[in-house]
Amino acid sequence: MASIAVVNQKGGVGKTTVVLGLASAAAHRGIETLVVDIDPQGNATTGLGVFEPTRSIDSVLIEERPGGINSVVETTGWTDDSGRRPLVAASSPALAAREPQLASDPLGAQDRLSVAMQGCSVPLVLVDCPPSLGLLTINALFAVDAVLVVTEPGAWAVDGVGRMLQTIDRIRTRRPDGGPEVSGIAVNRLGRTRDGRYWHEQLDSAYPEKCLPPVHLRAAVSEAAAQSRPIHSLGSRAGAAEAAGEFDVLLDILLRPVTADAPPTTESLPEGDI
Ligand SMILES: Nc1ncnc2c1ncn2[C@@H]1O[C@H](COP(=O)(O)OP(=O)(O)OP(=O)(O)O)[C@@H](O)[C@H]1O
Ligand SMILES: [Mg+2]
Repeated sequence: MASIAVVNQKGGVGKTTVVLGLASAAAHRGIETLVVDIDPQGNATTGLGVFEPTRSIDSVLIEERPGGINSVVETTGWTDDSGRRPLVAASSPALAAREPQLASDPLGAQDRLSVAMQGCSVPLVLVDCPPSLGLLTINALFAVDAVLVVTEPGAWAVDGVGRMLQTIDRIRTRRPDGGPEVSGIAVNRLGRTRDGRYWHEQLDSAYPEKCLPPVHLRAAVSEAAAQSRPIHSLGSRAGAAEAAGEFDVLLDILLRPVTADAPPTTESLPEGDI
């Protein structure tokens, strides 16, 4: 099993979009995928076409429940036409109230998700995190093998990513297995502006080993999420194939064994239509 948390404490940078793009790429390739939505906003849940979940991840975080995640997994609303339909452990607004409650556990509640995921046999687990460094994100960092940091190529992105990497380092010193690995930094919503290029270069030079091929700004990407459809199913919609190709590249890198060469820092694929 590969488990990957998609993180950034900054809001609106594209964490959920990247989770959905990767889930779409995995579905297209026939890889069974579980999306764990631990963001109380529930955008990944709705993006996957689940509007009124009957169960939620919140119920397995209430107490230590080994393997509990299996009891809340459900199939998503994505159709099967574009590959293997992903699974979801849905979000709930109750997660927002759960976070302060977890913080009051005198023994520490940072490993509730890790305990709940014990024995999970789905080959790929993607965890969509809220825009904060609170206990929900910390739970994800204790539960997964690897982390993908998503950022926009904008002002202070380098500082924001640096703060996230420091937090991950602190988790690594506390986890007995030394995890999670940092799989890379996905630079999302890269446009054709000089400003975008400048901040992308700043990120690339600050983290040359970690910056992955970017995901460009494309209307098709936000349309897919708004329509609760996988980007790979948008067919001939302008920019959809190019966007799908970028998520394919990211998935390839994420699924590569950790011992492989450093990720490419390429300018990536042709820009196509945005
Ligand atoms: N590559 C892209 N091209 C076009 N629009 C994008 C792209 N990536 C993200 N967006 C749009 O930007 C907005 C924010 O993206 P998203 O919700 O994925 O961010 P987030 O980091 O998950 O936000 P939050 O921190 O609130 O959870 C959404 O409207 C999404 O459709
Ligand atoms: Mg989100």
